[in-house]
Amino acid sequence: MVNKIAVLISDKGTGSNLAAILQAIDDGIIRNGKVTVVVSDKKEAKGLIHACKRNIPAEIKGLKEYLQQGKTRQNYDYDLGVMLKMKYHVDLVVLAGWMLILGKNFLKYFPDKVINLHPGLLPDGDIDYLILSDGIKVKAIRGLHTDAAVQFAIDHHYPVTGSTVHFVTPLVDQGPVIIRSEVKIKNKDNVKTLYQRMKKAEHKILPEAIALFCDNRLKIEDGRVIIKDAETSSA
Ligand code: GAR
Repeated sequence: MVNKIAVLISDKGTGSNLAAILQAIDDGIIRNGKVTVVVSDKKEAKGLIHACKRNIPAEIKGLKEYLQQGKTRQNYDYDLGVMLKMKYHVDLVVLAGWMLILGKNFLKYFPDKVINLHPGLLPDGDIDYLILSDGIKVKAIRGLHTDAAVQFAIDHHYPVTGSTVHFVTPLVDQGPVIIRSEVKIKNKDNVKTLYQRMKKAEHKILPEAIALFCDNRLKIEDGRVIIKDAETSSA
C-alpha cells in the first residue's frame, strides 16, 4: 500500500527536510509513501516552492486569519484534521518544521500517525535526561524551535546535541522516539555551523523514519517504539 503523506511546514525553515523527503521518494528510500499535500500556516514558507515545482497540492492554513474570523484554536486543529482526513485521505502526517502545537482535536484523526522532527535530543516520555550512544548524559531540549534549540545547546555547553523524530502525542515533545541523530558540538561552533551539520543528519533520519512507518515496521509498546524486522513487518 502506498501511504498518503501530508507534510506540514512553516516559514521558520527553508523547506530542506521536505526536499529531503521528496528526494528519498525519488531515490526509492521511501518506497511505500507519496507526498499528496503540503500544508503551511504561512504563505511565505520557502518550502512551498518544492510542492509547486512537483505539482503537489499546497494548502495555506493561517492561524491568525482563522482567529480573526472569530474561530478558536480548537476549531483550527479540528478543521485541519478534517481536511487532511476527508479531502486528502492522509495516512501519515509529518511535521517538518511545523511550529504550532496540534492538540487532541487534530490528533484524534491520526492516532499514532503524526511524526515530528525536533531540533534537540529527546528521551521517550517525560524523563528529563537521556544517555547518548557513548554513555554521555544530556538534558532533553524541549519546547524550543529551530535556531533557539540549537543556541540553547551551545549556551549550555552541551558536548553533543542533535535531532529527534518522534510520534506526536498531546504531551509536547514527549512522544515515543523513532530515531535520533547525535551531532558533536565543536568549540568554534555557532548556530549556523552547528545547525548545518544537524540538518544534514535530519535529511537522513526523517526519510528513514518515514520509510519505516510506510513499510509498517513501527510498533508502539508501553510508550516506546519497537522497530520490527523487515520480514515480520506485515504482521
Ligand atoms: C528543522 O530543523 C526541524 O528540526 C525544526 O524546524 C526545522 C525545519 O527546517 N523543527 C522545529 O523547530 C519544530 N519544533 P527545514 O525548513 O530546513 O526543513
